[in-house]
Amino acid sequence: MNKTRWQKAKKFIIDFYQETIRPGEEARARLEQVYREIEESGTYTHTFEELEYGAKLAWRNSNRCIGRLFWQTLQVFDERTAETALDVFSALERHVVFAYNDGKIRPAITIFRPDQQEQKIRIWNHQLLRYAGYEHAGDPHSRTLTEKCETLGWRGKGSDFDLLPWVVQIGSNPPVWQDVPKKCRVEVDLVHPDILAFKELELKWYAVPVISDMRLEIGGIDYQAAPFNGWYMGTEIGARNLADENRYNRLPAVADVIGLDTQYASSLWKDRALVELNVAVLYSFKQSGVTIVDHHTAARQHRIFEQNEEAAGRRATGDWTWLIPPVSPAATHIFHRTYNNTILSPNFFYQAAPYQ
Ligand code: ARG
Repeated sequence: MNKTRWQKAKKFIIDFYQETIRPGEEARARLEQVYREIEESGTYTHTFEELEYGAKLAWRNSNRCIGRLFWQTLQVFDERTAETALDVFSALERHVVFAYNDGKIRPAITIFRPDQQEQKIRIWNHQLLRYAGYEHAGDPHSRTLTEKCETLGWRGKGSDFDLLPWVVQIGSNPPVWQDVPKKCRVEVDLVHPDILAFKELELKWYAVPVISDMRLEIGGIDYQAAPFNGWYMGTEIGARNLADENRYNRLPAVADVIGLDTQYASSLWKDRALVELNVAVLYSFKQSGVTIVDHHTAARQHRIFEQNEEAAGRRATGDWTWLIPPVSPAATHIFHRTYNNTILSPNFFYQAAPYQ
């Protein structure tokens, strides 16, 4: 008998029935069924309703996520029957098309079969849309995966914004790659509302962040392929992806088009460049009709989430170091309170990269 799995399963099933208000009788019957299934096979299979609620709980329990107010709206795609890399690719395409929704982004998760008796499904990509990284161009964060893709025979243009192909591995078979389908290549060119020269920086970013390398754990079952998305908060792009020195490092270039003197740190040119870059990100997404949220609004939404949790007799857990936005943190309520960073289950976890 797999005792830890049973303990986790039991807790999840009880929580599930309690929160979804089903008669106690049904819960007991399901618990017995799950117990017997684990006893006989070492594992058990979630019903669709359990899978759906479990995924929503994993989002609610994501202590680092400021966007959790919307956890109940998560669209769950059950792709546990996908077998081949081609099955996986077509599910990924359906996911991105649904999530993008012509710009009105919808939070979604696609769940593939858990790693059990059958062969493990792994998506090599960190996100379904992500730019390649080369020695002198692109996103340094993607360098290792980019090299792997090149070893597999993929060739990028060598630009700053080459979308990496999707790479899927089934069991110990060699990984299979395919270019991101045309309808999934959704991006926004960055322009500034009043600095005309800004567009000469030729910056852009993709429309939807779909994290595809985390493990989803529900009731003792590990779904190691379960890509999920929300919409962007502007600072993720404007204060981190394009600004971090070990990412696109574009603050000096932004300062340049604005005409700031970068000689003295005390002129606060970095801060001024940061703000204008973030203004450009929010403005450009809005202009293109792609959902995005600014950090002030996101923080207010998180406060409502905190209040909802209190009203439900729970206290929201959180990771302060991640919840505070990287721009003007002290202008949000998050900065001025503390959070209990206990990791509840279900949840999303990092896992070792399948390559290297
Ligand atoms: N910070 C990551 C990025 O910039 C994305 C993380 C998930 N973000 C989200 N808004 N759901 O690519």
